[in-house]
Amino acid sequence: MVGFGVYVHVPFCERRCDYCDFATWTDRHHLMEAYAAACVTDLTRRYDRGPVPVATSVFFGGGTPSLLPAELLVGILAAVRRRPDAEVTVECNPDTVTPELLAAYRAGGVTRLSFGVQSMARHVLSALGRTHDPASVELAVAAARETGFDNFNLDLIYGGAGETLADWQGTLDTALALDPPHVSAYALTVEPGTPLARRIGAGEVTAPDDDDQAEKYLAADAALSAAGRPWYEISNWARPGLECRHNLLYWAQGEYLGIGCAAHGHTPAGRRWWNVRTPDRYIALIGQDAAPEGGHELVVGPDRDQEAAMLALRTRDGVPGGLVADSLVTDGLAEHRHGRVVLTPAGRLLANEATTRLLGASTSG
Ligand SMILES: C[S@@+](CC[C@H](N)C(=O)[O-])C[C@H]1O[C@@H](n2cnc3c(N)ncnc32)[C@H](O)[C@@H]1O
Ligand code: SF4
Repeated sequence: MVGFGVYVHVPFCERRCDYCDFATWTDRHHLMEAYAAACVTDLTRRYDRGPVPVATSVFFGGGTPSLLPAELLVGILAAVRRRPDAEVTVECNPDTVTPELLAAYRAGGVTRLSFGVQSMARHVLSALGRTHDPASVELAVAAARETGFDNFNLDLIYGGAGETLADWQGTLDTALALDPPHVSAYALTVEPGTPLARRIGAGEVTAPDDDDQAEKYLAADAALSAAGRPWYEISNWARPGLECRHNLLYWAQGEYLGIGCAAHGHTPAGRRWWNVRTPDRYIALIGQDAAPEGGHELVVGPDRDQEAAMLALRTRDGVPGGLVADSLVTDGLAEHRHGRVVLTPAGRLLANEATTRLLGASTSG
């Protein structure tokens, strides 16, 4: 099915986590109402000036979308023309979730939640600078179930300071005990300019270790697969049929619209664009009836094919057999499956290397 996604960025957080470089602010909550109104205006104008396809998925990402008063979020969602069976996801920080908030989401058409859990070990959460504790995760998941949200994701991060392999295994076990249909697990990345990068530079914190993260990736893949959630993209595991449709669209170079500051969009013709980074600027531009776009690039021709191969190689569908350098298979990084070539767990650990070899083979062949 050819889909169309709408991504809505919500740039507000209670506190900035040490490792995060997403477009989010802790001192602009007073803008929430104006921001939500600007998002609605942006959408309405696009429909007026159309044509815009009907959405098959909507994703509210952040920042912390669950910090927005529910009526504001639901008001933005109401302005999105979408199919009755559209997947509608909201990213939630566990300690912002209440049964009332979730009930309002449900009534407003949200179908899926994504909780930023990161770890179920208290000391790892505090080392990451998170505001919640493991008990808030359990309460949030219980509230989700009680309000009828059976479809939810847990985001996890591995490789934080002081996290042992046993801590990570404990996080996986405790997270799986909550029976999540979907889990995303990311290696902690040190983004330049973040407090984490500065603290590592100053020698106050140790940098994540590649071997430790590799071991934790394999532990995650083993635990999640054994629990009936096979991988479908390098960092994503789900019960079959409950993969995130919105993310699948990104990996298939699908078409999507970005609403809100720092949101990205992509047209079928290969035009990628992104909105201005700050909420203040976004609100001001929408207020002047100006385009909120901050920049764009065209990814066409061979670049587009290379990007398609790179994205596809990161998924369980892999790439067509003919594309691949034989050494990927002989070195155990990939295997043939149903006429496609798919990364092995070892290959997923070396995805960048595998991509370089794949692109080398496709450009020389
Ligand atoms: C931008 S956050 C938004 C969700 C929500 N605010 C939260 O953090 O719980 C989306 C996810 O990106 C991941 N993430 C953010 N920064 C990261 C980093 N530096 N390394 C690895 N994962 C990161 C986290 O797992 C997080 O849940
Ligand atoms: S809560 Fe999420 S978006 Fe906000 S600072 Fe932390 S990781 Fe970034």
